[in-house]
Amino acid sequence: MKRIPVILDGDPGHDDAIAWMVAAASHILDIKAVTTVAGNKDIENVTRNTLNVCSLFNIEAPIGKGAHGPLVVEGITAGDFHGETGLDGVDLPPSDMTLSEYSAVELMVKVLEDSHEPVVIIGTGAQTNLATLLLYRQDLKDKIRAFYIMGGGIENGNWTPAAEFNILVDPEAARIVFESGIPVIMSGLDVTEKALVYPEDVNRIREIGTPMGHIVSSWLDFFGETHAAMGYKGWPLHDPCAVLSLIKPDMFEIREAYLQVETKGLHARGGILADFEDKENFNGKVVLNIDREAFIEELIKAVEHFTGREA
Ligand code: BDR
Ligand code: CA
Repeated sequence: MKRIPVILDGDPGHDDAIAWMVAAASHILDIKAVTTVAGNKDIENVTRNTLNVCSLFNIEAPIGKGAHGPLVVEGITAGDFHGETGLDGVDLPPSDMTLSEYSAVELMVKVLEDSHEPVVIIGTGAQTNLATLLLYRQDLKDKIRAFYIMGGGIENGNWTPAAEFNILVDPEAARIVFESGIPVIMSGLDVTEKALVYPEDVNRIREIGTPMGHIVSSWLDFFGETHAAMGYKGWPLHDPCAVLSLIKPDMFEIREAYLQVETKGLHARGGILADFEDKENFNGKVVLNIDREAFIEELIKAVEHFTGREA
């Protein structure tokens, strides 16, 4: 079967790591590069986590270190949600992988230039690298099939009433991406807050009994504790939705829309507006709903894909 070439860009982060596990376990995707961006933690932490996670999931694609902060404003990080390291919960063996000699954006350019077909970029962090790529190499737009992103929320935010974290970190970058003319398939809070994981789901993952089951359930225990402290009952596993909306679209309700990023709002900076009527300006799709049971089965299948590696 012909596989879809993808670049994974994110800021691991527990849910980024699990999203990349799902991508690595998929027979449909061909991971061409993995790139990092500051967000959940600073760029050094998320890049080290990326090397560890790529070793863990046998992702052999080159890894490019990306932006240490947003295009215009000061960076923010995701506080305690992902712990001190950005990926607390279990000690991973140190990676024997090394970073590419290319930066994140240089690596994206190389992948796009070398590709004979358009590539999908899956973005699960702030969109700083994606925007920089677009600013730097307009000529490569035709080589990008779509952006599948975790970000935004048309009903509500999670960092402010209007804004979701990934968009709020770098709204100017998100605006460049959303206005690029390349389709944006947005898994925002509308769907990711329904992609809930409960303790009994984590137990099922633990009971798989493999080293990977141990690692992923330990991550989810940690992620669950930080969310429980914030009053969550189940915890939203945001980033895997961006991957699964590409490889398992039937699991979701998805609607076309004209999507705009608010960059100037006094109260709503970083918010996303979706217009479902303005057909002429449709520039993407909003993922609105998920079959939660099927989602959990996909996570379990992905964990089961990896059998051997010791924690
Ligand atoms: C997003 O913010 C990050 O903390 C998560 O990794 C996810 O990408 C959710 O708002
Ligand atoms: Ca993320």
